[in-house]
Amino acid sequence: MDLHILDHRLRVTCISKNGLANFTHALIKLIFLRNRTRCKFFSLTETPENYTVVLDEEGFKELQPSEHLQVESSTWLPLNVVSNGNISSSSQAVGVTKIAKSVIAPLAQQHVSVFMLSTYQTDFILVREKDLSVVISTLEEEFNIYREVEGESVPVGCQNVSNVLQKNGKEALHPTVHPVLIPQNQFGVMSLDPDTLPSIATTLIDVLFYSNSPKVDSQSSPNQDLDCIKFFSFSLIDGYISLVMDTEAQRQFPADLLFTSSSRELWRMVRIGGQPLGFDECGIVAQISQPLADGDISAYYISTFSFDHALVPEEDIVSVTDMLHQQRKDAAT
Ligand code: ARG
Repeated sequence: MDLHILDHRLRVTCISKNGLANFTHALIKLIFLRNRTRCKFFSLTETPENYTVVLDEEGFKELQPSEHLQVESSTWLPLNVVSNGNISSSSQAVGVTKIAKSVIAPLAQQHVSVFMLSTYQTDFILVREKDLSVVISTLEEEFNIYREVEGESVPVGCQNVSNVLQKNGKEALHPTVHPVLIPQNQFGVMSLDPDTLPSIATTLIDVLFYSNSPKVDSQSSPNQDLDCIKFFSFSLIDGYISLVMDTEAQRQFPADLLFTSSSRELWRMVRIGGQPLGFDECGIVAQISQPLADGDISAYYISTFSFDHALVPEEDIVSVTDMLHQQRKDAAT
């Protein structure tokens, strides 16, 4: 299998809920006016706490510094696993489950903190630029590693950081088990032809920027239900669009433009974290994705500025809930 280190230098930022109005001009440009920016990696996720924006340095220039904008101080690089077809895998699972054992677990063991961003098309594993040599030496046994440089894939040579590995590798990993929340909404993971973006522009603007303003013609929306959570994610990465939204939001979009994988699956969410998770702790993704991999349960995984979110097939939510409860019990004993 191949692992690509993509040619994007990313910043992880967060806009406060009441500061959004300061950024609408920049965000509209980044989402709808592709020929006006050189941004190639853009992701925006609304959660109840805030808006997480992950974007490359070109895009980051569009965001004006403000008290409403928090910026994680590191530069992050996206990694991407490409299976070149010659690995016959018995697993049908998709998403983070596929890379749990080969990428996520080994990085956690080496104390590398990751930030996950699953999309309709693929799963990006963001790592800090300063951790890159540890990342490469950890994964080079399992993968052919390439670094993308201006459209070319350049093979990455052996790293000589065995001393780093030994130092880190010795401590046993005793990860904190974070509390989880399992909201009632059902989610879809979708895509859209970028050329049809203009035809859903007004809906997208409504959903992204005005979701909290009351509608003139509706009384109470199911979204005010306490058991449901606000979660909407839009990404435009290397020309590909990915959307994650609940069935409630989906109803606002014209049904014929969004497409989803043939099975039209519905997904349930597990939100991980009681207090904001920060960026330094490692092993959070590993802790969730490992048992999913053992159970061969597909999962998308989206980290945001405050919390992590795993999406699992609706029919598996009961077994996933049981598994998480078991994990908490084991941690308590
Ligand atoms: N760094 C965590 C890990 O390595 C995942 C990200 C959690 N932090 C966050 N802000 N979402 O497992």
